[in-house]
Amino acid sequence: MTHAPEAPTGPPFIPISAPRFGEAEERLLLQVLRSGAIAQGPMVARLEGLCAGMAGVPHAVAVSSGTAALDAALEVMEVGPGDEVITAPFTFVATLNAILRRGATARFADITDDYVVDPESMAALVTPRTRALLPVHLYGLMADMERIGEVAQRHGLGIIEDAAQAHGASLRGRRPGSFGLGCFSFYATKNVTSGEGGVVTTSDEGFAERLRLLRNQGMRGRYDYTTIGHNWRMTDLAAALAIPQMERLDTITAERHHNAETLTALIGPDCGAVTPRTPTDQVHAWHQYTVLLPPGTDRDLVVSRLAEQGIGAGVYYPRLVWDYPLFHSHPGVVRDDTPRAADVARRCLSLPVHPGVRDSDLLRIAEALRSALAG
Ligand SMILES: Cc1ncc(COP(=O)(O)O)c(C=O)c1O
Repeated sequence: MTHAPEAPTGPPFIPISAPRFGEAEERLLLQVLRSGAIAQGPMVARLEGLCAGMAGVPHAVAVSSGTAALDAALEVMEVGPGDEVITAPFTFVATLNAILRRGATARFADITDDYVVDPESMAALVTPRTRALLPVHLYGLMADMERIGEVAQRHGLGIIEDAAQAHGASLRGRRPGSFGLGCFSFYATKNVTSGEGGVVTTSDEGFAERLRLLRNQGMRGRYDYTTIGHNWRMTDLAAALAIPQMERLDTITAERHHNAETLTALIGPDCGAVTPRTPTDQVHAWHQYTVLLPPGTDRDLVVSRLAEQGIGAGVYYPRLVWDYPLFHSHPGVVRDDTPRAADVARRCLSLPVHPGVRDSDLLRIAEALRSALAG
């Protein structure tokens, strides 16, 4: 009798992100399925209430993705051809695509040691054509919105916050999405997910009204068309998935915080990787836990050594957002010099920090990183 070869067994793989759902999500989803009404309805309204509460503003308009949230925010702000929007060069391409879709020009400010856009660098790029500032709260850490707000006020500029990664963050008690139009994502890897989805938060009633029109084909009522709109609606199915996570957002953020602090202690200061700082005046949402590898490190080799140890590491992002052939000759892209962002793009590495990572996993992650760097 022959035996099939045994599958190699090792410690379980630790993915870089993993959504977690429980009975509350199952119950709400079933409720929607049994209601027979699965498109935008009461669940979306309930999620919007939770999102407005999260941002500490009166209005939240749910849409079909974080990208749609950015598109909608730029459209209600009437950003268009001839306008410049100052953003971060170290971000996901959705931020840049949304600016370019409006026919506007993207300018890029450098980042700080905390990976978020630097207000002074933004201020230096303001011209008479500047229309809006679009900071990105990268990895779950808010950009310095107090300083960015001052720059905007001084020059009469709009503010759109790319808060796709920042549910649960705060800066001296103020939440992302409360300084300008806040654009959140509920994509599958985000701290709160509905599979696909997004929301725009605002304290401006006029913006909120127009966002609601734009998301629904410009209809004020049934077949009452008032403007050229879109289908940016979220479904009740998606909203039902996100609601329980929004209700336990403080716990999710605290779990991520615990994992981040533990990783920093376990990695320690002596292996050459620079661990991320937690500013004392902020709640970091720890969407990603990102270290800087020593200059000259072969990052691909580190990633593959971590993979051999069953650890999913991520590179967010390997290049500046505009540093791709399609953008090099794009008339809406100004290749501003951002040396800190360029250095970080070469050296950044993100490690699993989500609530599914247990203390024993954190030990494995830190040890694997240390040994990968030791060579
Ligand atoms: C910084 C940033 N902006 C925008 C987006 C776009 O969000 P979505 O994927 O929901 O369209 C994402 C996430 O994917 C993101 O990480």
